[in-house]
Amino acid sequence: RAEVVINGSLSPAVVDRSNESMKHTIQPASSTWRHNQTLSLRIRKQILKFLDAEKDISVLKGTLKPGDIIHYIFDRDSTMNVSQNLYELLPRTSPLKNKHFRTCAIVGNSGVLLNSGCGPEIDTHSFVIRCNLAPVQEYARDVGLKTDLVTMNPSVIQRAFEDLVNATWREKLLQRLHSLNGSILWIPAFMARGGKERVEWVNELILKHRVNVRTAYPSLRLLHAVRGYWLTNKVHIKRPTTGLLMYTLATRFCNQIYLYGFWPFPLDQNQNPVKYHYYDSLKYGYTSQASPHTMPLEFKALKSLHEQGALKLTVGQCD
Ligand code: CTP
Repeated sequence: RAEVVINGSLSPAVVDRSNESMKHTIQPASSTWRHNQTLSLRIRKQILKFLDAEKDISVLKGTLKPGDIIHYIFDRDSTMNVSQNLYELLPRTSPLKNKHFRTCAIVGNSGVLLNSGCGPEIDTHSFVIRCNLAPVQEYARDVGLKTDLVTMNPSVIQRAFEDLVNATWREKLLQRLHSLNGSILWIPAFMARGGKERVEWVNELILKHRVNVRTAYPSLRLLHAVRGYWLTNKVHIKRPTTGLLMYTLATRFCNQIYLYGFWPFPLDQNQNPVKYHYYDSLKYGYTSQASPHTMPLEFKALKSLHEQGALKLTVGQCD
């Protein structure tokens, strides 16, 4: 019986980041990658011991009521009250109930997507997951347009929508939300206290303008469960990134998982510069002590899964 080897012994402390992309060579898209169905099923089963994406993707209406007090996951001493708006937007049943897809795309936000031409390929997948309301329209050739689920960390409202300081920014966010057109909007509302108001603003906007999105708010245990799974497999992540969370959830309802835009390194495989995000000027921050993420370590784990056929990573151009 083949072992699932997710990680070796690479310690973040000994990573030489200067030339790190050299260590992560991935064969071009057309190479001999083959999906390993047996391994994918085994991984799904292992992850199910820690979490169930069908349930943990969102808190449901039946489990909370307005006024309930929630302790933030990363700021246990801080609490929030479940507002009437949040309550109204909680789904009654899981947006993933009984869902199964032949192929799923998870689109990370790395600049490696630029000039990849991957848009059409991404759009052929049965279910497409995107992160942090990243723009698609202007980048369709490289990132595609199809969106079935998109995440929104509250910090996005500050970073990409100027904290809705005026009507112009409110309108921009509203247009972006309208463009989601019935897809799932996944908002980690209970992670850290800093996002409280931003989540409330978005909730209010959705209700006031009857935006056609299916909101979902991840369960309180999701993050620790995901971390637990990866720790058990010797991937010592501090705080899983959105991309890793999405992969972990997707194993439950996707037969084949294709990752695009995962490349947390400033140089590509040919040593050309790569933007941190394909759409903005944010700089590489994961090397700083303050960053909660350990993206290169996550990448190493994903690459190992790619080599074993459990997922497919595309880090260059699409055919
Ligand atoms: N990602 C990547 N390489 C990059 C940028 C992003 O692999 N250069 C992947 C990560 O898995 C990340 C996902 O794409 O989680 C989405 O990117 P981003 O919006 O930057 O997500 P987070 O870093 O998780 O968001 P935050 O900074 O709000 O925690």
